[in-house]
Amino acid sequence: MIAVFGLGHVGIVTAICLAEKGFSVIGIDKGAEKITSLKNSKLYIFEKGLQELFEKNKSKLQFSTNSQDAKIATEIIVCVGTPSLAGGAVDYSHINSVCEEISALTKKSNTLKNIFFRSTVQPKTTRTKLTKLVNNKTVNIFFYPEFLREGSAVEDFLNPNQTIIGVESTDNPSSISSDIIKGFDNVNYVDYEVAEMIKYANNSFHALKVAFINEIATVAKEYDVDISSLHKVFIGDDKLNISTSYLKPGFAFGGPCLTKDTRGFLEMGLKKGIKTPLIQNILPSNNEHLMRFIAQIESFKASKVLFCGITFKKGTNDIRNSPIVDLMSLYYQRPSYNKKIVHVLDEENIIESLRSSSRLAPYKIMSKLEQLDEEYDLIIFGTKVNDSIIEKYKNTNILHLGFIL
Ligand SMILES: NC(=O)c1ccc[n+]([C@@H]2O[C@H](COP(=O)([O-])OP(=O)(O)OC[C@H]3O[C@@H](n4cnc5c(N)ncnc54)[C@H](O)[C@@H]3O)[C@@H](O)[C@H]2O)c1
Repeated sequence: MIAVFGLGHVGIVTAICLAEKGFSVIGIDKGAEKITSLKNSKLYIFEKGLQELFEKNKSKLQFSTNSQDAKIATEIIVCVGTPSLAGGAVDYSHINSVCEEISALTKKSNTLKNIFFRSTVQPKTTRTKLTKLVNNKTVNIFFYPEFLREGSAVEDFLNPNQTIIGVESTDNPSSISSDIIKGFDNVNYVDYEVAEMIKYANNSFHALKVAFINEIATVAKEYDVDISSLHKVFIGDDKLNISTSYLKPGFAFGGPCLTKDTRGFLEMGLKKGIKTPLIQNILPSNNEHLMRFIAQIESFKASKVLFCGITFKKGTNDIRNSPIVDLMSLYYQRPSYNKKIVHVLDEENIIESLRSSSRLAPYKIMSKLEQLDEEYDLIIFGTKVNDSIIEKYKNTNILHLGFIL
């Protein structure tokens, strides 16, 4: 038997869909009204297809307000609410109390094997808080994020794109034994923290997409652009737009186009009196990211630094708007360490153009490994990573900018 704690939108869909998958399920909720309603075969939420599944699987479903009624469960799924407090912090009061109840239950139960937390929580909550609250070493604890969308929750539950299971350690997922997990294809085992964070990444991304396309469309409309045609060609580009391109964490963006055209778009909006706060904050966000790298570089307290690969992206000799050159200039101007020495290594055909650039005047530019000095305090790999350098400067601090483009 599976017990589902918390029968709100997520919990009731989870309970009924698990019954549909063949499990006997007990749903536990503090709300007496909800339990009475369910016992009277009445659903208190509307969700496409749910009523039919409820009626079809009634014989496999029980409901109670008493957590002790879950003592014969083999697996528990926790779906209690984690609402926002003022300022966006998470209210953990429901999940705290449910953990205490489950902890008491585990002491009496000799059937319980696994507990899955589905309530959205911030990274590290499962490892540092929930496992301690449950406090039972014989029970496995997982974080199982929920991706169902209200309106298509049944379909999303029964046919998930992927099932993410957060585990204490990903070393040996084959040792995990769970009937719930067995029922899903495409299961992805990740650390607790990844499973916790993915909800925030996904939902922030979806929110970003809505706000982004609305800002674009609002400005475009003012310029008599056919929005539906624009939308069609925008989403029709699955190589660069609706794709994984540019979606890789790394260094700040630069180059001749992204910055210039973002500024151009902002000016178009301003001319028409339209505020586009999302797109307006892209360049400050990019700059903030660059400044984080300055702080990281400074933390090495290096006075002799080598930069390898400084063009704005791989496969070009263009250093106009190179964020690495911006990084070098900012670093060079920081007052914290005077007498800094900055060397640059790049390919000969690239540095030919670099040599004439006034932006690079303060630095020593080289194209051959033999020209490098014997010692550096810090080596920073930008658009190039060189194994011979890593080998030669084994004891030197290395920083990879992790270029995105
Ligand atoms: N609603 C969604 O579409 C959605 C999607 C994905 C994830 N989530 C996350 O899933 C979690 C649940 O969301 P929801 O919308 O179902 O919440 P909800 O507030 O609608 O329901 C939570 C239920 O838990 C019950 N509860 C509280 N304490 C309890 C306890 N100690 N024992 C038993 N029951 C208890 C409440 O009575 C309530 O019925 C949240 O963390 C939410 O962020 C929600």
